[in-house]
Parts: sequence; C-alpha cells; structure tokens
Amino acid sequence: MTTQPTTEPTTQPTSQQAAEPAPPDLRLVPDPDVTPLGAGLLAEEAALDQQVVVRQRLAETHDLLTLVLEPTTPGPLAFRPGQYVSLAVDIDGESVERCYTISSPPTRPHLLTVTVKRVPGGRVSHYLHDRLAVGDRVRVSGPLGGFTVTDHPSSRYLLLSAGSGITPTLSTVRAMADLAALGPGGLDVVALHSARTPDDLPCRAELELLAATHPGLRVIWTCDDDAPTRPGAWTGHRGLLTAAVLAAAVPDLAEREVLVCGPAGYRDAVRAMLAALGADPARCHEESFSIDEGSAPVAPAAADGADAAPVGARVRFGRSDREVVCAPGTTVLEAARQAGVRLPSSCSSGLCGTCKSTLLEGRIDMQHQGGIRPREIAQDRFLPCCSTPDGDIVVDA
Ligand SMILES: Cc1cc2nc3c(=O)[nH]c(=O)nc-3n(C[C@H](O)[C@H](O)[C@H](O)COP(=O)(O)OP(=O)(O)OC[C@H]3O[C@@H](n4cnc5c(N)ncnc54)[C@H](O)[C@@H]3O)c2cc1C
Ligand code: FES
Repeated sequence: MTTQPTTEPTTQPTSQQAAEPAPPDLRLVPDPDVTPLGAGLLAEEAALDQQVVVRQRLAETHDLLTLVLEPTTPGPLAFRPGQYVSLAVDIDGESVERCYTISSPPTRPHLLTVTVKRVPGGRVSHYLHDRLAVGDRVRVSGPLGGFTVTDHPSSRYLLLSAGSGITPTLSTVRAMADLAALGPGGLDVVALHSARTPDDLPCRAELELLAATHPGLRVIWTCDDDAPTRPGAWTGHRGLLTAAVLAAAVPDLAEREVLVCGPAGYRDAVRAMLAALGADPARCHEESFSIDEGSAPVAPAAADGADAAPVGARVRFGRSDREVVCAPGTTVLEAARQAGVRLPSSCSSGLCGTCKSTLLEGRIDMQHQGGIRPREIAQDRFLPCCSTPDGDIVVDA
C-alpha cells in the first residue's frame, strides 16, 4: 500500500474561530496538510479492545452474514472507515482469532458490524455463520490497518471490490453519506463491485438507495453470470471485469484515488487494468484479506541443535527469566518459542495484533502490515511475529 501526496488543487481551511457558527468541517481535498474525511466530526481513532455482545445476525446473501455487535464498555467507538478488528472466538475450548473489516461506519459509533463470508472449510467463518448466536459474546481488538480513504485524501475516489472485499467500501460510503460529504462541492465516488451472480451482490438495495439519494455516489455492479434461479433477470454488465468495461464505466479513472479489495486473482487482474488505463500507481491502494499472501518477512529457520553457532542477537524474556541467542533473521516470536516462552499469536504476519508485546531494552526491525498503531509503537509496543532483533533485546514476557 502506498501513501503519496496528490497534485490536485487545494482548498484553504476555514477558520473554526469565526464569530458565525462554523459549518461542519468536511475538508475532503487532497492537500496533505489538510485533515481529510470528516475532520472535526470523526473522533480520533482509539483502542476498542473489549468484549462485544452479538445483537443481530443479518443475512446479506446466501454466504454473507453481518454481525451487529454492541460494546460492553460504555462510550462511542472511534475508528476510520476501512479499518479492521481482530475478533477472537472460543471454538471447542480454543481461542481462535481472525481479522474482519468493520463494515459499519465510524459515524455510527455505538455499534460495530462485521460482514463475514462463509469460506469453504473455514473454521471461524463457519463458526460465526452456524454457531454464534444473538446474546453471545466475542472479543474484539483494534482498530487496525491503514486501508482507509482518510489516509488518501482526494475529492474523487474509485472503490473497487469483489467478494467479501466489499466491506471497506460499505464502511466508507456509509460514512461519506452520513457526513453529507457526497455531491456538489464534496466527494465524487464510484463504487464498483464484481460478483458471480446477482444473488451474490451484498447490500444491493442499500447501496443503490444511497446512490439514488446522493449525487456524488455511483454504484456499479458486474456479474460473471445471471442468477441461476432467475435467468434473464440481470440486465447489468455480465462477464468478468475488463479494462474496457472499467474505462467505459469510469473514464476519469486516472484522476481518482483508487482502493482495491478482493481475492488475489481479482487484485492481480485489476492492477493490470489500472496500469493499462494510466492510473498512477502511487494513487492505487490494495487490501488483501488472505494472510497467506501477506508480504510479511518470513524469517529463516532459526539455528537449532546443540552445535548451532551462537551468532545473532541475545533475546531475553524478562518476566519468564529465559534467554535465547537466535540466528540472524529469526523473529522474536520464533525466539520466544525456542526459549520455551509462550506468546499468544494468530496470523504470524503482523496483521492481527494478537502477539503485541512490550520491548524493554534494545531495538527491533518490525515489518508489520497494520496490526499495530503508531501510538503503540511510540510506547515501545511491537509485534514479535514480524520483528527481528537489531542487536540484543529484552522483552516484557
Ligand atoms: C485485514 C483483513 C480483513 C479481513 N476482513 C474480512 C471481512 O471483512 N469479511 C470476511 O469475510 N473476511 C475478512 N477477512 C478474512 C478473515 O480474516 C478470515 O481469513 C476468513 O473469514 C477465513 O477464516 P476461517 O477461519 O473461516 O478460514 P480458515 O480456517 O482460516 O481457512 C481458510 C482457508 O484455508 C483452508 N484450510 C483450512 N484448513 C486447511 C487445511 N488443514 N488444509 C488445507 N486448507 C485448509 C480453508 O478451506 C479455507 O479455504 C479479512 C482478513 C484480513 C487479513
Ligand atoms: S500474530 Fe498477528 S500480528 Fe503477530
């Protein structure tokens, strides 16, 4: 993911101290010095690590379920559209964590929704679909990630998605609509979602209503095929998304900030289309929902056995009073395993935040993927799963 200042014209901020009541601060212009979406209206991101209660289960499609979650800690939630939470469930006595993008907008801060696709053979998605009931509690931690329009200020966006990759779009356009940010003098947004059939289109009625009532929003669907039960019913674009379809639907694509979320094959194809159509790579941002495709560094296997040369850093786990000398490139999580210290972990890719720990001494090289907030890093917190020691270190574990 890239973050670049853009070159579109700048609007000067208006004074909030004027005698007249200031209009809502909705500066959505691409000036890096100007705070983007909902500045002054969206609360600053804050930790939402807590138990939440399942209040509703809403079937969006045959394999997409929205869970409406109510915080147990009183007070509004603060996150940015497109961010995700790590959700922990207890399955057969084992705590299992997965990341889910918050599909509700930050402008509705008293509830949280996640929209979960049933993954064939998937442990947590099946549990959430089949076993988690209204009234049950799960634990969420976050908010995490930087796949958010607020990090990429622009007056024009193209939100491209496929499959469950629509969830950042849902939070984003809901927030923009709630903030009255769409339309003349505000944002111009195209949300283009690709699905297999019309039966797989999530939140279709809601998004089409938003588009009908907000001139700054266009919602475009493409379906690979017709609805199996209603042949001939689909009158929109049929077939895979192509560069020609994209160019016809969004002729000013090269002038938009583009956010892409969907499966790897979809993102590969879209990346090629965007390049062919002249989109600036610095203005194109992607989110992957698959941990396996993550770009976190894979540490080489640590030296094992008695004859392993004691080269590399000395990693000390203060509370456990254990120490290990690990080979260069070994992650701190792996060093903990070698030392017999149990650190919680889930994604092992710097995404979910489960392994978050405190560095007491020394320096680490961390290559995370959004699983930790800058404020936490400033407080010496780090993610052992994607961090290698840069010299000797002491960890609070
Ligand atoms: C930042 C981020 C945001 C996300 N947001 C969303 C979201 O908004 N909505 C959403 O639906 N998902 C989202 N995800 C994906 C989500 O975190 C889970 O990965 C997804 O729900 C699948 O989890 P699972 O436990 O059901 O599947 P897993 O049990 O983790 O299985 C995943 C896949 O591996 C296969 N598999 C499992 N076990 C084996 C095995 N032993 N051998 C071979 N194959 C196996 C399964 O068949 C399945 O295809 C997001 C992920 C990330 C990283
Ligand atoms: S285990 Fe997920 S961030 Fe470390």
